[in-house]
Amino acid sequence: MIRDQAHSLRQHFPEASPKDYRPQGRRVRALSFTSGKGGVGKTNIVVNLSVQLAKRGKKVLLIDADLGLANIDIMLNLNPQFTVEDVLLGKKQIHEVMVEGPLGVHILPASSGVSEMTELSGEQQMHMLQQLASLQDNYDFILIDTGAGIASTVLRFNAAADEICVITTTEPTALTDAYALMKVMATKYQVRKFNLIVNQVGNMKEAKAVYEKLKAVFQQFLPVDLMMMGFIPRDVNFPKAVRAQTPLSLLQPNSSTSKAFALMAKHLEQNPGQSMEQEETNFFTRLGLFKRRL
Ligand SMILES: Nc1ncnc2c1ncn2[C@@H]1O[C@H](COP(=O)(O)OP(=O)(O)O)[C@@H](O)[C@H]1O
Ligand SMILES: [Mg+2]
Repeated sequence: MIRDQAHSLRQHFPEASPKDYRPQGRRVRALSFTSGKGGVGKTNIVVNLSVQLAKRGKKVLLIDADLGLANIDIMLNLNPQFTVEDVLLGKKQIHEVMVEGPLGVHILPASSGVSEMTELSGEQQMHMLQQLASLQDNYDFILIDTGAGIASTVLRFNAAADEICVITTTEPTALTDAYALMKVMATKYQVRKFNLIVNQVGNMKEAKAVYEKLKAVFQQFLPVDLMMMGFIPRDVNFPKAVRAQTPLSLLQPNSSTSKAFALMAKHLEQNPGQSMEQEETNFFTRLGLFKRRL
């Protein structure tokens, strides 16, 4: 970067109250993108969605919360000098770690291959919260790319989010693991609503079949609302975009896949989650509170 990026980021976070930026009554929406099984497309989806929201004029913060296997920075060719680990260790302030990605999306990068980072201690978590809380009013959306599975850090980020977006492919293993994750979230954290994104589908029928299948299981066993948030086609250009370190939505903006992401962003903007209207607390407060329940 890095100097230029840091400078431009500092301008976003003046000493004076960052609350001034937000018109009254608006509040940030924190959405987690999560999965039971790894490799189902979380990072690709969250990156493309953030670009599409930015295209719609939204201020987006993307948090790489896949703490052990972080790769948003690589996907966006960012080469960050520091990561969230430096914040947790008290070496850096959060605005020094944050980098600017495509279309002005802000990214909080994590560290790869640092096993101690996969689970945050309560103290580390509180430290990060204090830092993050000062920034939240700068954004319309906070998108969180969680790790896969049911490790406590993953569950905690999900439990703290306003809306949980579960990603699955059509493979039976991905479906089973998606169900297992939602079941844990429902029983341990009383989550009653999930958004489903079906990735790598051949057509809409396939995506609907996955949705109906999961919904039927829930109707039988758990009192949970499952909302269809959208589906993304199987597209051979994803690996190409990853290799080019450019989001598909920018590499091929007119492709049907990019249009699917654009539609998802529009849907997201026009349908604020129920939880937001009811909740008084914010994402960061809840992230702190959940420490006690684990
Ligand atoms: N819709 C898709 N069509 C084809 N390949 C995809 C699609 N979504 C993701 N992939 C590929 O799947 C792999 C895993 O994606 P990634 O976003 O890294 O998953 P996760 O973050 O869940 O581990 C990548 O190689 C990516 O290129
Ligand atoms: Mg990932």
